[in-house]
Amino acid sequence: MKIDVLTIFPEMFAGVLGQSILKKAEERNLVSYHVYNFREFSTDKHQKVDDYPYGGGAGMVLTPQPIFDAVHHLTKEAKIKPRVILMCPQGERFTQAKAEELASEEHLIFICGHYEGYDERIRQFVVTDEISIGDYVLTGGELASMVVIDSVVRLLPGVLGNKESAPCDSYSSGLLEYPHYTRPADYKGLKVPEQLLSGNHKAIEEWRAKEALRRTYERRPDMLEHRKLTDAEKKWLDEFKNQE
Ligand code: ADE
Repeated sequence: MKIDVLTIFPEMFAGVLGQSILKKAEERNLVSYHVYNFREFSTDKHQKVDDYPYGGGAGMVLTPQPIFDAVHHLTKEAKIKPRVILMCPQGERFTQAKAEELASEEHLIFICGHYEGYDERIRQFVVTDEISIGDYVLTGGELASMVVIDSVVRLLPGVLGNKESAPCDSYSSGLLEYPHYTRPADYKGLKVPEQLLSGNHKAIEEWRAKEALRRTYERRPDMLEHRKLTDAEKKWLDEFKNQE
């Protein structure tokens, strides 16, 4: 996968893309990152990338020219049409399903802005997707794009080893994860649930399935609304409700 980022703060990306799993993924040629300062594409003599809004009002608006030209530069030789993703609070709310969808692409371009807004023609003629990472406003799209990049890259085949493997994550399975424990079995009187120490794989699987359901029921009941429940899950849910 090729990931291009358009920003006027390219330095913000070095730490995140240059560490840990995202860095290893690039070293192993599973992904390549290219961060561009789109100011360099501005034809203005002062390399301006924003201007006052027509009709008046507060704040500045990102002008179309630098973004149109930067995206053209990045796509003119592309054989496969990339996804061009605008990071903004008005976008579609980011989910694990969207991360999986983007992980199947070969080329992603992220546009990160810092202004009151983007000229609407950028949305209409350049962008394929608009993504928000949540219902709050950041100072710019950079942190948001890094969140999306992180969640997409970890899904690329070969990026995670068995140890961290992705399919049983919270959200992929439709349930939050069951609680985890490690040594010691008794920490200052705080004990690990017996079932996990039993060595009985069936009992362990069952405990985990039930506790994942319990956690989801307690924290994110909305995630259960469209789930096809198994008979065991129906029984456990009744049990949780009766315990309340
Ligand atoms: N830019 C500013 N706020 C944002 C958000 N919540 N998601 C994506 N991009 C943003």
